[in-house]
Amino acid sequence: MDVDQLMKEKSEMLEKVLGRYTKIGDKRIQEMMLHPINAGGKRIRPCLVLLACEAVKGDSKKILPAAASVELLHTFTLIHDDIMDHDTERRGKPTVHAIWGEELAIVVGDTLYSGAFKALVEVRKNGVPENLVLDAVEALVEANSELQEGQILDMLFEERETISEGEYMKMIGKKTGSLIEASLKIGGILGNGTREELSALSLFGRNAGIAFQIKDDLLDLTADQVELGKPVGSDIRKGKKTLMIVHALNHTTPRQRQEMNTLLGNENATDEDIHDMIGLLQDLGSINYAEEKVKTLIDEGKNALKTLDETEAKKTLLAMSDYLINRRK
Ligand code: IPE
Ligand code: IPE
Ligand code: MG
Ligand code: MG
Ligand code: MG
Repeated sequence: MDVDQLMKEKSEMLEKVLGRYTKIGDKRIQEMMLHPINAGGKRIRPCLVLLACEAVKGDSKKILPAAASVELLHTFTLIHDDIMDHDTERRGKPTVHAIWGEELAIVVGDTLYSGAFKALVEVRKNGVPENLVLDAVEALVEANSELQEGQILDMLFEERETISEGEYMKMIGKKTGSLIEASLKIGGILGNGTREELSALSLFGRNAGIAFQIKDDLLDLTADQVELGKPVGSDIRKGKKTLMIVHALNHTTPRQRQEMNTLLGNENATDEDIHDMIGLLQDLGSINYAEEKVKTLIDEGKNALKTLDETEAKKTLLAMSDYLINRRK
């Protein structure tokens, strides 16, 4: 199955709907709103919404605004994340704050955030029952609170000398797992899935989401920057406690740990410094460890889907989880 092609087809309808909720204010304001959306993005979360709906035999054409909703919320989090992480490139383009400044970028993010809810409640117009829409809104609100908590922990961990693997896993479950899980749950809710179907989709989403973030952290070390569309090495320069760093800090000599700590969080670290750090992570088996963890999580996620009826959408969800492991951007 060609997942790239499939996601492209699925998101074609989505692009038109997305545009509806970014048409706010005059030309200048619109340019700011549309910039991060038109820059691209893989559109993974909206595809998951549509596939989850189909997997419970719902009509995904009715819930396109819900798919747009999670992408709008995701884009809002990226704008704020880039301010927090001091990153000036995203989706192959300069970040919103790099162009218009942090002050305006905050409000552009906030506007996309409210657009997410505007979109989600609009599925009522397509005949989706109000009680299901309310449940979907609840899922999105909960996911967003959890995501923001995860983002706060991510920043607080920068200042800490050591983090346990358990703390790290909890943090990424919140900052990334929550919205990926919610995307599946929202699709399932709006497709009128049963309670069992919703918990299977949620468990799949949570595992896939956590694996997705570990893979994102791996790509920050090993990807090609042009292909990735965002800076490589940013996590080391910002002192992020990724799984590889957590593993290495817990498996190294005090001397090496000290060396690592002088590099971590050094915004002026050179490409050579980053290269040396990657070498150390490789030697300590930390990269291998993270890669294995991604595989295990994806297997657990796939297991969760066993209880769902066999549908084309379920097959695609399974293929998408393999794509998450193998992606290069
Ligand atoms: C990036 O998400 C942020 C993370 C949660 C890791 P994506 O990798 O889905 O970003 P886009 O939407 O494709 O740009
Ligand atoms: C972001 O994690 C998670 C969000 C909730 C936005 P990262 O900070 O690793 O995401 P990228 O690498 O900037 O996309
Ligand atoms: Mg970031
Ligand atoms: Mg971040
Ligand atoms: Mg990252």
